[in-house]
Amino acid sequence: MLAATAISQSATDPLSGLVLREVPKPKAKPGWALVRVVASSLNMHDLWTLRGVGHPADRLPVVLGCDAAGYDENGDAVIVHPVLADADAGRGDETLDPNRALLSEQHDGAFAEYLRVPARNLVPKPDWLSFEEAACLPVAWTTAYRMLFTQAGITAGDRVLVQGAGGGVASAAIKLAVAAGAVVYATSRSEGKRAEALTWGARAAVAPRERLPERVDVVIETVGEATWSHSLKSLRPGGTVVVAGATSGMSPSADLARVFYHQLRILGSTGCTRSELVAMLRMLEATGVRPVIDRTLPLTDIHKGFQLMIDGALTGKLVLNHMKETP
Ligand SMILES: NC(=O)c1ccc[n+]([C@@H]2O[C@H](COP(=O)([O-])OP(=O)(O)OC[C@H]3O[C@@H](n4cnc5c(N)ncnc54)[C@H](OP(=O)(O)O)[C@@H]3O)[C@@H](O)[C@H]2O)c1
Repeated sequence: MLAATAISQSATDPLSGLVLREVPKPKAKPGWALVRVVASSLNMHDLWTLRGVGHPADRLPVVLGCDAAGYDENGDAVIVHPVLADADAGRGDETLDPNRALLSEQHDGAFAEYLRVPARNLVPKPDWLSFEEAACLPVAWTTAYRMLFTQAGITAGDRVLVQGAGGGVASAAIKLAVAAGAVVYATSRSEGKRAEALTWGARAAVAPRERLPERVDVVIETVGEATWSHSLKSLRPGGTVVVAGATSGMSPSADLARVFYHQLRILGSTGCTRSELVAMLRMLEATGVRPVIDRTLPLTDIHKGFQLMIDGALTGKLVLNHMKETP
């Protein structure tokens, strides 16, 4: 079968290690399910692997891809929950299992014709969601959902700042927070993406580091170094910043005086639970909110897709189409 595989890593030329090639179809395994992938989507996580960040070289080659929707062996449409973990080891929360892994970390991932995952990782795909939309949800959308509702515990009327509006996680956070009745502010480097954020319901969208009309209760932070200081300055006393990523750099200077004097809360967030994915599906059905899809490309155009991501040219998710939507 055809698969997009990471064969080497480079910090400066990550796409040099990405090859589309024939690999053996995964074999059946007790307790595991085989999924014929219809659609997948790109995540920064795939680029980190290609850059050699967070993925040891001795785990190469590996088929990349964390997000997938397709058909299981019974011909039922499914979404793949991407966290492979033991909920018991995480005291009821599988994201806290010290041995948890995201798809493509310890097992081959989604950028292939077939994908093998533990059977519990399959979630039925509702009919009201297309395969392309479903393929956007498992990583970026559930991360945004967990940051807003599980970690920050936002309620209607809260003021929420989302940094880097054009991102997969950020676009999801804006739409989910608006749907929950929050007053949402966003930042983006691009005027076009700021305008887009307003169409998703953001009250205002400003350039990075620009002062907001008011201080906020919660900041959703995935940009890192480039926005961290602005995130802390934008919080009201007692406010919360939830951080799940650091695309622009991992080592911002820490203004500890601001943190303790204003009694700020800094919360980390990683992945999501299967039950959060299921709950988020109910929310999308109830609210009509759907993912922002920048474009859909065939799997064979995956290098082009990643180049657009590297260039910061995407708004929302880039989806890959693997096949026709017939079982
Ligand atoms: N912890 C988790 O479970 C988890 C899950 C998903 C993602 N993540 C992490 O979260 C981050 C975002 O992931 P994603 O998939 O949403 O990536 P993405 O779609 O590529 O979005 C990244 C966004 O960050 C903003 N950005 C990038 N560089 C910037 C800079 N120098 N200055 C200001 N803004 C900048 C851009 O927004 P604008 O173009 O609008 O300015 C861009 O759209 C990644 O680091 C990823 O690894 C973590």
